[in-house]
Amino acid sequence: MADSAGTQSGQNGPFDVVILGGGSGGYACALRAAQLGMKVALVEKGELGGTCLHRGCIPTKALLHAAEVADSSRESEQFGVRTSFEGIDMPAVNAYKDGVVARLYKGLQGLVKSRKITFVEGMGRLVSPTAVEVDGRRYEGKHVVLATGSYAKSLPGLDIDGSQVITSDQALKLDRVPASVVVLGGGVIGCEFASVWKSFGAEVTIVEALPHLVPLEDEQSSKMLERAFRKRKIAFELGARFSGVEKTEGGVKVSLENGKTIEAELLLVAVGRGPTSQELGYEQVGVEMERGFVKVDEHCQTNVPTISAVGDLIPTLQLAHVGFGEGIMVAERLGGLEPAPIDYDGVPRVTYSEPEVASVGITESRAKEKYGDDGIETLTYDLAGNGKSQILKTAGFVKLVRQKDGPVVGIHMVGSRVGELVAEAQLIYGWEAYPDDVASLVHAHPTQTEAVGEAHLALAGKPLHAHG
Ligand code: NAI
Repeated sequence: MADSAGTQSGQNGPFDVVILGGGSGGYACALRAAQLGMKVALVEKGELGGTCLHRGCIPTKALLHAAEVADSSRESEQFGVRTSFEGIDMPAVNAYKDGVVARLYKGLQGLVKSRKITFVEGMGRLVSPTAVEVDGRRYEGKHVVLATGSYAKSLPGLDIDGSQVITSDQALKLDRVPASVVVLGGGVIGCEFASVWKSFGAEVTIVEALPHLVPLEDEQSSKMLERAFRKRKIAFELGARFSGVEKTEGGVKVSLENGKTIEAELLLVAVGRGPTSQELGYEQVGVEMERGFVKVDEHCQTNVPTISAVGDLIPTLQLAHVGFGEGIMVAERLGGLEPAPIDYDGVPRVTYSEPEVASVGITESRAKEKYGDDGIETLTYDLAGNGKSQILKTAGFVKLVRQKDGPVVGIHMVGSRVGELVAEAQLIYGWEAYPDDVASLVHAHPTQTEAVGEAHLALAGKPLHAHG
């Protein structure tokens, strides 16, 4: 198909870099490479912006915001404000969500155009260590960057029919609020959708095979989220494996290996995302793979020196901001700079459910493995002592994990809006700060960021609004 955006059409190269996939990883790489003066081709079969912008982060957060507004109007009485909650107008919610996506999409297209990137629309395939073919046309580059992302996985024998058994792709397009939903998988996607649907009025049951919700988080955070979800009457089955699903007249009947069955209108499958790497020519060109992921070194270079890979396609954290970071790092390396490898422990993680779960650094259990049971100290500052959190009527905590007599190596938080606190937490982790270093910083009162300050005051042995 046609080249668009930027350079004269018909320009097939040679390019400095040809990027396959225009999601977070691919477009960040393209923007940075162009900024560094490289001639860039960016190949995309769908829409520029990929999963994050069109089927992931952005639309789900719009739904979560609508959910927060619904909760606020339903529960306003507790703040002395009388409102009546009439219901959710799903087409209107979708129009709001789609409007957000459309504006960002337009902005991104403008950015790509303004950086003179050759945008190639169409299905690309790697055909040599230095070339990608799109609809019979070959785009040669000194380097190729693979950034084809991921897809919503299912389980063997579990067919996604798109109507009763769905993934997040279809969940984002629903034109109604389902009466009831079984959410298979209590990871990030599962907990975020469970939170949205509960706020919208659905009955929700989460089924999670591992012993806790958001099982990659510190166990204390998982338990706090479970407590909050219990209070919100979101049901969950933990340590429960899926065994089968039957279609019924009203929806689905989900069976678990523990013998239980749950009936609901919909089954959302949120058991992880797999790399999009099949039939794209990767193996034929000799790129080393592992379980479908493209293998890379710490600079995101594959075993083929001219080929790099970034984003959900490689076995690092599947987060849009990791894709941005990897894309930028690769562009800088190809541009002759010497970017530092990414410290993946230092990447902030946020689950935007109500309440939110946010973390950076390592969990208490990993810290114990690393430094020994006696080699760490932890401190949990309860948001009950934080004025702003009380104003918001949210419960939760800021938990610190430090190496004994050493820096803070993990910060774990639960509560409404704590996702915003992770910015400071990541600086603390990144600077290898000691509790005393942070304790000396005066935090604005009354904010939730104060809870971060107070946790460090307490860990430095001088608690303010906490018992010593
Ligand atoms: P996930 O890996 O976070 O969670 C999947 C969950 O399904 C796991 O807890 C797993 O134990 C469970 N599971 C697997 N097989 C099961 C079975 N047979 N029965 C019951 N439970 C089973 O994957 P998820 O939530 O699908 O998200 C995919 C990726 O997208 C993740 O890497 C996530 O970090 C990312 N993402 C990030 C967001 C954010 O940063 N806010 C939002 C949404 C997704």
